[in-house]
Amino acid sequence: MGGAFITFEGIDGCGKSTQLRLLASELRMRGHEVVSTREPGGTPLGQRIRNILLDPQIEVDPLAELLLFAADRAQHVRTLLRPAIESGNIVLSDRYADATAAYQGAGRSFTTEMIAEVIHLATSGLKPDLTLIFDLPVAECLARTRRRTETDRQTDRLDAEDAAFHARVRDAYLKLAAQEPDRVRVISACGSINETHDRVLEVVTPFLKSKDQSPKSKVG
Ligand code: TMP
Repeated sequence: MGGAFITFEGIDGCGKSTQLRLLASELRMRGHEVVSTREPGGTPLGQRIRNILLDPQIEVDPLAELLLFAADRAQHVRTLLRPAIESGNIVLSDRYADATAAYQGAGRSFTTEMIAEVIHLATSGLKPDLTLIFDLPVAECLARTRRRTETDRQTDRLDAEDAAFHARVRDAYLKLAAQEPDRVRVISACGSINETHDRVLEVVTPFLKSKDQSPKSKVG
């Protein structure tokens, strides 16, 4: 039986990476085989591309940016995502192609057609079964990112974009959820980490049941 492919999306500072870690450990506890990964940076090549893309010292032309995200994704799909899904794993990815539609499409204003073409080239049609968008007002996300950079990390090149950029990205994610309500679910990221985790389980548990992804069903 095939696996499942779940992606985590949202504007910077929405808390999706923490939620991915919590869901991965919950699903492992329930006996599922889980692969956690991310974009950019889910492969050794992708990690190098990530370093370039997020380096605040490097000026990146928007078209070069679009193609670097696509190069990261092509390597990710072909060497990690497809094989892991085909071997029956539940694959959780911290961002995937919807991020290109939101950030390079709405954020950088590439046309829908061009974004669709580049995504198709990089993914050869691999789509998530379920996408969770963690939603929070832009001001709150920016405040979280600022707090985080004070403690444990540098502001990266995309974090440093202004509030209007992040607002366009957020709107694009919400529009996508309205266009594809079966695949894309919006999860409010207001409230505590545990409250958000509970909301994630309310979506993911019935989804896995409907895909017949109970741990038992994978044996044999
Ligand atoms: P992360 O901080 O969530 O790991 O993501 C890195 C940054 O890259 C984040 O600001 C979103 C951005 N990004 C894009 O602009 N386009 C893409 O296709 C992806 C995957 C990420």
